[in-house]
Amino acid sequence: MMRPNVRIGLLKEVAPAERRVALTPEVITRLMVNGHTVTVEKGAGVEAGLLDDSYVAVGADLGTREEVWESAAVVAVNRPTELPEASRATLLGFLRPLEDPQGVAALAAAGLTALAFELVPRITRAQSMDALSSQATVAGYQAALEAAMFSRRLFPMLTTAAGTIPPARTLVLGAGVAGLQAIATCRRLGAVVAGFDVRAAAAEQIRSLGATFVDVGVAPQDATQTGGYARKLDASAESLVLDGLAPFIARSDVVISTAAIPGASAPRLITTEMVNAMSPGSVIVDLAATTGGNCELTVPGKVVEHNGVTIIGYTDLPSRKAYDASQMYARNVAALVGLLGGDGEVNLEDEILAGCCVAFNGSVRVRT
Ligand code: NAI
Repeated sequence: MMRPNVRIGLLKEVAPAERRVALTPEVITRLMVNGHTVTVEKGAGVEAGLLDDSYVAVGADLGTREEVWESAAVVAVNRPTELPEASRATLLGFLRPLEDPQGVAALAAAGLTALAFELVPRITRAQSMDALSSQATVAGYQAALEAAMFSRRLFPMLTTAAGTIPPARTLVLGAGVAGLQAIATCRRLGAVVAGFDVRAAAAEQIRSLGATFVDVGVAPQDATQTGGYARKLDASAESLVLDGLAPFIARSDVVISTAAIPGASAPRLITTEMVNAMSPGSVIVDLAATTGGNCELTVPGKVVEHNGVTIIGYTDLPSRKAYDASQMYARNVAALVGLLGGDGEVNLEDEILAGCCVAFNGSVRVRT
């Protein structure tokens, strides 16, 4: 089927810690083969290592922010805060609809139609548009590297003339996309890895990566009816989890926590008491820092130390590998743009667009 040609605009990110960019020259080449045109805001890719010349070389136009907003589809990583007076564009990005409904209301008030990557349904046809997964993959990898850098221990077992060094013991809490990538990366670095999750499917996935599954005796959740996502634990399951994890956390050199419930605050899995029981020099990397943290002591965006334990609350892990995170995100963006009409129209009869459309022609869309 012939797809319509879309005039696409690429915004430069404005958040200070954001180094990613929503389209890369490689992906723009493919979009242009399909007949689309792209206007790039000057300097959009610089922080990811992609200079303006590399965009011009593939045939994109450079423009001002105002010119970018004249496009039919405007693409970004994060929700832009300064909006045009009145625009008919369709905006694509991580728009934080569940955490920041007022931000979505502002997009609607500016006349926009808006598609949030957080709400792209996790169905087979939408896999190429699953930006949560692509960025979680980078976050999980980077979390393992941060842990290895901050740790005072080597990850692999080494047998040397100076004696044998035992492998670092790492524990990964939450084995979704980020957690499984963290497990795989810690394993590649030679650590001994254990993993925990509440979803039934996770135990097998943890074991398939060569890690051990921590069984705390809580009934595994069937997530097949909830889009693959976990549900909040009730009080008795929560105390089983905390009691079961405590001894494992105490003897871990590294804990990487990734547990999340969409639209809710992160489950608390590491209490101050548990941190007190860890050896000095241990490291916690808390990927749930933006939604309240899995660890009670996490400070979002900061590295803090408590009794000699380093707690890393970085909220920009994908952005710390900005080049490849951008390449992956750009492919997700291109796939979603491929569902739009020539003027950026959003057909709400399409299950994917209906799932992720949070504002439609200037009105907030209430999803049921
Ligand atoms: P997420 O970022 O929402 O949560 C991370 C992990 O935390 C999940 O594995 C969740 O089960 C776990 N968790 C929640 N509460 C917990 C608790 N109290 N203790 C321990 N762990 C807890 O999830 P993510 O990574 O976005 O995806 C979860 C699952 O969704 C995947 O593993 C997969 O099964 C499914 N999925 C399906 C896709 C598809 O079909 N296209 C694509 C991507 C994911």
